[in-house]
Amino acid sequence: MSTRHFLTLNDLSPQELQEVVQRAIELKRMQYEGELYEPFKNQVMAMIFEKASTRTRVSFEAGMAQFGGHAMFLSPRDTQLGRGEPISDSARVISSMVDIVMIRTFSHAVVEEFARHSSVPVINALTDEFHPCQLLADMQTFAEQRGSIQGKTVAWIGDGNNMCSSYINAACQFDFQLNVACPEGFEPDAELVQANADRVKVLRDPVEAVKDASLVVTDVWASMGQEEEQQQREQAFAGYQVSPALMDRAAEEAIFMHCLPAHRGEEISEDMLDDPRSVAFDEAENRLHAQKALIEFLLTR
Ligand code: CP
Ligand code: NVA
Repeated sequence: MSTRHFLTLNDLSPQELQEVVQRAIELKRMQYEGELYEPFKNQVMAMIFEKASTRTRVSFEAGMAQFGGHAMFLSPRDTQLGRGEPISDSARVISSMVDIVMIRTFSHAVVEEFARHSSVPVINALTDEFHPCQLLADMQTFAEQRGSIQGKTVAWIGDGNNMCSSYINAACQFDFQLNVACPEGFEPDAELVQANADRVKVLRDPVEAVKDASLVVTDVWASMGQEEEQQQREQAFAGYQVSPALMDRAAEEAIFMHCLPAHRGEEISEDMLDDPRSVAFDEAENRLHAQKALIEFLLTR
């Protein structure tokens, strides 16, 4: 059988995604009950980070350790990747020594190129275009808090960035309606929106977007790699802050998510993460459980 990768949510079928989410809930229960589960003894994950990370690194590294395996942190500063060794050569070499690879980088084309030349599963741990691992955690969190997301309305407020694109994929794969509210010039990828036109609406008004929404989500206004646009973006996104007052305009049972790190006073109000409707810290913890379910899925196919 050919090696399975996880570069976007579309690499798994809707049914497989449901399986992973349900398994994540089960692995979390096992972890809470102190049940030892070490199916991947002596197995190694290579973690290639070309951008900063807290949650992604800690969750993958802890997850592999809990599975009885090992995770190896590789930064371009200390590897030949940073000195221009071709991705294809690096992929052949690294995948000949480890069992699974995780990459966080800039261009999505890099993870695609790596996967093409890798003999073991490759996981996209964030590119400029997509952040599918975060969506597994978000979908797990929604399932735990509110049950099935199928047929529900989700509001994405702010930048049409990598997280937004993964929400568009999720709208299709998990079968929900997505309202995106963003300022002009910061829309999600037009082709992706077009391809999912039956599931996604792009709006300007955050209040209109959150109407009837069971889940409201936002993210930073300037993503990694866009630091020099910070000031210009702060101006463009004024009016797109998520606050308890905006949540009051959503559905009665609405919850709030943010992949973190968050900038209080920018995309969220100072008090948003302390609001009882915020599940952002459960969401962060679920990175661990959801990615363990993903690793198990990929290593046992
Ligand atoms: N949400 C997320 O991916 O966080 P890190 O950048 O800390 O990994
Ligand atoms: N959109 C953000 C997500 C960080 C987890 C970024 O790419 O920096």
